[in-house]
Amino acid sequence: MDRSDLLPAGLAALAVILALYFRFRTRLPPGPWPWPVVGNLYEIKPVRFRCFAEWAQKYGPIMSVWFGTSLTVVVSSSDLAREVLKDKDQQLADRPRTRSAARFSRNGADLIWADYGPHYVKVRKVCNLELFSPKRLEALRPIREDEVTAMVESIFRVCTQPEKIGLSFVLKDHLQAVAFNNITRLAFGKRFVKPDGTIDEQGIEFKTIVSNGHKFGASLSLAEFVSWLRWMFPLDEEAYEKHNARRDKLTKTIMEEHTQARYKSGAKDHFVDALLTLKDQYDLSEDTIIGLLWDMITAGMDTTVISVEWAMSEIVRNPRIQDKIQDELDSVIGQERIINETDFANLPYLQCAVKESLRLHPPTPLMLPHKASANVKIGGYDIPKGSNVLVNVWAIARDPTVWRNPLEYRPERFLEEDIDIKGHDLRVLPFGAGRRVCPGAQLGINLVSSMLAHLLHHFKWTLPDGVKSEDVDMRETPGMVTFMHTPLQVVARPRLPTQLYSRVPAEI
Ligand code: HEM
Repeated sequence: MDRSDLLPAGLAALAVILALYFRFRTRLPPGPWPWPVVGNLYEIKPVRFRCFAEWAQKYGPIMSVWFGTSLTVVVSSSDLAREVLKDKDQQLADRPRTRSAARFSRNGADLIWADYGPHYVKVRKVCNLELFSPKRLEALRPIREDEVTAMVESIFRVCTQPEKIGLSFVLKDHLQAVAFNNITRLAFGKRFVKPDGTIDEQGIEFKTIVSNGHKFGASLSLAEFVSWLRWMFPLDEEAYEKHNARRDKLTKTIMEEHTQARYKSGAKDHFVDALLTLKDQYDLSEDTIIGLLWDMITAGMDTTVISVEWAMSEIVRNPRIQDKIQDELDSVIGQERIINETDFANLPYLQCAVKESLRLHPPTPLMLPHKASANVKIGGYDIPKGSNVLVNVWAIARDPTVWRNPLEYRPERFLEEDIDIKGHDLRVLPFGAGRRVCPGAQLGINLVSSMLAHLLHHFKWTLPDGVKSEDVDMRETPGMVTFMHTPLQVVARPRLPTQLYSRVPAEI
């Protein structure tokens, strides 16, 4: 070998030695053997949280899973969740952004996709102190009650049509309408539905933008997980630009309408008004305001629909539980008036049913992904800086070492023990915990409880003729949020006097 060959050979040997040194010095969590380049990508089953729960049986409660060349650590026990979300919270509070998420959020100019840092702390403060303050939630209550009673009215209309009495319908359609109207009114101060029930022009534009966003978000390629392959799979930057421009244009038009209205009649309580009024105090850029408003749509709409659909699926399969909730409603509210949010405090069993549904069916079973901003140790293993970290809250809430008969839907377990579901008790974490815990948790609980209470106070629910409890398809759809795989079909029969089925509109 001549001397000119020595340098490259020496460098190659050094690289191998360094790689081996780091490999053996770093003690990564165990996991399935990763293939070169693709890692475990092609072994991960579509419903990821179920797949990870199965793998955890084999590899233990902390696992390395390789999405291409990027490491994701999945934890599936409440003790390890405490380490991730409480003890090492600060080092694990960044977010991994896919290329789509980076484009949509303008590299984390919003809240959901922001890394943990001064921007995040500022925006989170706006959420905690201003947008989701108990005072604002109370001020926006009439919107929620308006929309929930509108849902009751629309279900009543369907199930009392002579040719439809006793026939089943898809509950999700009604839930989606109420969630859409609620969140758009709360965030944008707009009810896009015209008095004749059709959607206005802005509403159509809004829905198109939401649906295009879903399509972009779902189109992930291998390059997402193997950074050095990205040059082979470039993004359609123009399409993203167009999408963002369309979203910004609509949002700015609505913002301008609010600014004009504010001059005339003062600020309202909707998020858009709050953010425009607080813009200077908190030094919020226009990108951040737009990003935050759309975060509410992304995070608040599907999650509430999913929670109620799963809760109803459990309740309709368990007539004993339906009877018990209705007995409580009848004895506390009676049959002469409708329920409102101030009644919740007197409906402990209903609250337990909501908690039990969120335990068994958390709408985001792997929460949102976290990312390590520094090297940390979890469960004695090394988590290198830049790794993604997922907490399988679905698996934790079904852990037989923590829960008695975990697969049984039994609200009574929350009566027997007062268990918090908003991030303080690490056994049940539908909203996450720690500094990135869901800021909309109380709003979410109010919405879900109100929808469920109205559905059960106003109607008796059964499965379609001939369908048994065990026939209901309890599988989930793949994705970050988990709808029922087969939308729930139910039969509703009114149980209150007819005059109690009208919408109670609120002009706010
Ligand atoms: C039952 C309903 C809901 C559930 C189960 C839920 C669950 C969650 C979870 C698990 C996270 C991620 C926590 C983490 O990364 O550690 C989250 C984040 C978030 N949620 Fe919710 N959520 C619900 C309703 C809402 C509503 C109604 C809103 C607002 C209108 C909302 C706004 C947000 C936002 C902005 C974030 C991002 C927080 C951050 O990154 O710091 N959520 N939610």
